[in-house]
Parts: sequence; structure tokens; C-alpha cells
Amino acid sequence: MQFNDALLAALRGARHLVVFTGAGVSAESGIPTFRDALAGLWTQYEATQLASPEGFADNPALVWGWYEWRRMKVLRAQPNPAHAAIASLAGLTPRLTLITQNVDDLHERAGSADVIHLHGSIHQPRCFTCSQPYAYPPGIPDEPEGGRYLEPPRCGRCGGRIRPGVVWFGESLPAKAWNRAWQAAQDCDVLMSVGTSSLVWPAAELPEIAARRGATVIQVNPGETALDGWAAWNLRGPAGEVLPGLLEAMR
Ligand code: OAD
Repeated sequence: MQFNDALLAALRGARHLVVFTGAGVSAESGIPTFRDALAGLWTQYEATQLASPEGFADNPALVWGWYEWRRMKVLRAQPNPAHAAIASLAGLTPRLTLITQNVDDLHERAGSADVIHLHGSIHQPRCFTCSQPYAYPPGIPDEPEGGRYLEPPRCGRCGGRIRPGVVWFGESLPAKAWNRAWQAAQDCDVLMSVGTSSLVWPAAELPEIAARRGATVIQVNPGETALDGWAAWNLRGPAGEVLPGLLEAMR
């Protein structure tokens, strides 16, 4: 894979590199992107039915079933070469901040430290009523994949329903994570956006913030996105191929 010299120079010379990832970075680990999942097995539902406080209040078993289906995929998945390349990139730049919209832990399992999770974690459920954290029983559940309706467990403290520890549509991002991400976007000189449709705000604003401050924006995505016009380089291809190639070329 050939990369433009100026692109490699920007990456090699970066003082502070921000890597901003979305569902596409985990696609090659077998975790369907949000929109792919909705276009497939879950085609009859709107995103807000599956991922909003109102959707959960309306049909807790549907929503809990959807997230358990995704959690089972995550538990069975392994990090792919894109996650590994991002972890290795940290050793090649003076400062790397990794910001993800993903609720899986594949970046951490690939060796990235201090990952900023803008949309929470699928592994940290809590009570819908009183926010008490809930600990999943250990191990990988053996319910059938795609088992749609699953009654959520109940909170040991107040008896409320347990909800997934992710950020839903209409909810605020965790303040600490957002502040750190926003500051990194302001400060970085290169931002690489990987595998995100750049449609969901406020997360999608981060590359634009960086670009407006003069940072070089690089995008890795097989398809066109809302970010195309802001990016100095659009590297069209799967992250699991483009990122290892980029890492190799930088060395
Ligand atoms: P999306 O599902 O919106 O977009 C996934 C992106 O990944 C698309 O642009 C694909 O072209 C790209 N893609 C697919 N395969 C890829 C690959 N192998 N390598 C690189 N890119 C690939 O996912 P996100 O942008 O992450 O939010 O979505 C952002 C948020 O929207 C999610 O965090 C979730 C969702 O609604 C909430 O739940 C709040």
C-alpha cells in the first residue's frame, strides 16, 4: 500500500496525535456497526427504539435483548489489526490520545491505555432508577445469539431495572470524557478519524474542532462520510488493512 509523502511526514512530525474511532474499527472483529446491525437482523426497529431512555422505558426486554446480543458478540470477539496498529502508533508519537465512540473494550485488549470512551461501556451496566452499578455474572452467557427479548435483571438496592452502561440518543456524554476529548481536539496537530460515519453529535464535532484549529485531519473509511470535506486525506479502505500499512510506512 502506497501512502503520500506529505501524509507520512504529517504523521511522523505530529506533536500530539488524536485517534478518533467509531464502529468501523471493530467491524473486522465481527461486531456489526450500529447502522449495519439496524440494516440486518434488527431491520424492523428504529435506532431510538433500541437506544434511548424512552425506548427502554417502553420495552425494556427488547432493549436489554439488543444490548445482550451485542455484548455477547463483544465477549467472543478479538481485537483486529486496526486495534493493534493504533496501540503500536502510541509508541511512534510523542503524545497520542485515543478517543472512541465504541462501547466495546477491543482497544484496551489490543494494548491501548487510557482510552476515552465517549459513549460509555457495554460492560458497565447500572440501575435505570438509582444508577447503582450492576456486576454481570462472570463468563460468557450462553443464550442464543440474537435472542431478542430478554428481561433485564433487577437492581439489588432498589429493585429497578438494570440498563446498559452506554450513552443513548438524547442523553449527555459523560462530562469528564467529553472535556478530555474536547481539549485533545483543541490541542492536537494531527487527528485521524477511523471507521465512523461522523453523523452522531457531539462526537462528530471533534474532527471539525481540530480542523478549524489548523490540525491535519486524516480519515480512514471505505466509504464516504460527512467528514470527507474536512479531511486533508481520505484513505478509502478497511481499517484493518490501511492502519497496519500506515504503521509500516511510518517506521
Ligand atoms: P456507524 O455505524 O454510524 O458508522 C460506521 C462507519 O464505519 C461507516 O462510515 C462505515 O463506512 C465504516 N466502516 C465499515 N467497515 C469499516 C472498516 N472495516 N474499516 C473502517 N471503517 C469501516 O458507527 P459510528 O460512526 O461509530 O451511538 O456511530 C456513532 C454512534 O452512532 C455510535 O457510537 C452509536 C451510534 O448511534 C450511540 O449509541 C449514542
